[in-house]
Amino acid sequence: MKLFIDTANVEHIKKANDMGVICGVTTNPSLIAKEGRDFEEVVKEITTIVDGPISAEVISLESEKMVEEALPLAKIHKNIVIKIPMTVEGLKATKILKSKGIKTNVTLIFSAAQALLAARAGATFVSPFLGRLDDVGMVGMNLIEEIVQIFDVHGLETEIIAASIRNPIHVVDAARLGAHIATVPYEVIVQMTKHPLTDIGIQKFLKDWESVPKK
Ligand code: E4P
Repeated sequence: MKLFIDTANVEHIKKANDMGVICGVTTNPSLIAKEGRDFEEVVKEITTIVDGPISAEVISLESEKMVEEALPLAKIHKNIVIKIPMTVEGLKATKILKSKGIKTNVTLIFSAAQALLAARAGATFVSPFLGRLDDVGMVGMNLIEEIVQIFDVHGLETEIIAASIRNPIHVVDAARLGAHIATVPYEVIVQMTKHPLTDIGIQKFLKDWESVPKK
């Protein structure tokens, strides 16, 4: 399973990229708003940091307008992927963008039926939101399992991005179930690096090293 970072914070993107663990970035309007910067400027900067798919979301709700928004975004860089909300209009926009050779990430997926439709409309990626399902008392991971199974059985090429990740267990479970990608907030990437036994082990090695005779 590949890892993307789910943020519009360029410092966090640089840090995760320097660790060598990410190969793509997802943003959304809320993440962009948190940065208090111009949308296109942020997206352009991200393209200079990570050489992989970078999702930039449209905010229009009609297919023609989504396509109008998508075209200049797609021109920013070959790695830009247009993030489209999962609606009838979004599916229409996905179809049009595919015919123009523009990659899409259909977002706000909360059911396997939605994922199947997005794949059939030609989405490059679908983003099922685990954490938000967990938040309303459903098991988000069951959705990943269903989508993986359906895409496998029918040989669908659309890649599944496990999104709305809240903790390292989400990442590990999504990997075990066969999601192609997990898009992970920076804080969760940092949590994934840690284990108390690693810290204790380092301290012990350093302490024992002090007793090694030095010339
Ligand atoms: C996915 O691409 C979204 O940006 C993201 O994962 C949403 O996560 P949230 O539910 O933590 O806002």
